[in-house]
Amino acid sequence: MPAETAARVGPGRSPIGACGEIVSNAKTYLPRDWGVQPPYLYEGYKSTVTRSPRKPLVPLPQTLSELTGPVYGHDAVQAIDADLTRNGAVNGQPLGQRIKVTGRVTDENGRPVPGTLIEIWQTNAAGRYVHKVDTHDAPLDPNFFGAGRFVTDADGRYTFHSIRPGEYPWLNHDKAFRPAHIHFSLLGPSFVTRLVTQMYFPGDALLPLDPIFLSVSDEDARNRLVSRYSVVATEADYALGYEFDIVLRGRNATPMVA
Ligand SMILES: [Fe+2]
Repeated sequence: MPAETAARVGPGRSPIGACGEIVSNAKTYLPRDWGVQPPYLYEGYKSTVTRSPRKPLVPLPQTLSELTGPVYGHDAVQAIDADLTRNGAVNGQPLGQRIKVTGRVTDENGRPVPGTLIEIWQTNAAGRYVHKVDTHDAPLDPNFFGAGRFVTDADGRYTFHSIRPGEYPWLNHDKAFRPAHIHFSLLGPSFVTRLVTQMYFPGDALLPLDPIFLSVSDEDARNRLVSRYSVVATEADYALGYEFDIVLRGRNATPMVA
């Protein structure tokens, strides 16, 4: 048993009882609230038509493998990983409006979730990803890689710097453009708090037209995907500030967006 798992279970205790029940003191989670999550199949979002499951889902019990976290080394995460204006720089600064994005990761009961690995990826200012399948006819930026990562602190807070991503066309429907967004992947304290989502910007005219955004039918839940402009987070003469808080699971959960 890994040392971390042993610590969760407690000294001298077996994690699995004779009948397979969980006897550890690992945290258990409330059932996921599907009322705030997008459906697997949303007709307006064409990719979901082919990828959504055709058979009823099989609920998995919250056993030790779901309640203990993915284990990864924190040592490899460096401070520069959180600064996308510098982590891909070759011979200068990336083009575009500099932004700072900050927020807190909390659990279903509003408590901070420290030690959460957050990974982000986004387009450059022209709306182009550094990816071989992105054939959008927009320029790459030699000084922008478009990916970063960080680990939340003791208060569940994270901060990164980047440039505002550009809108880009996609093939979902005629004249379809995605609103500006940043992809987030979170590895919380356990596999059942895994979250992949997207952060949007306030006042984006494309939001009311975007099937991915609209696939979250609950308006309050949908709007939790939109960051807030923040004067406090803004850095004078340098970067516009945005706040984006993330809730893992529960009634106020940040919806999954893929
Ligand atoms: Fe995207």
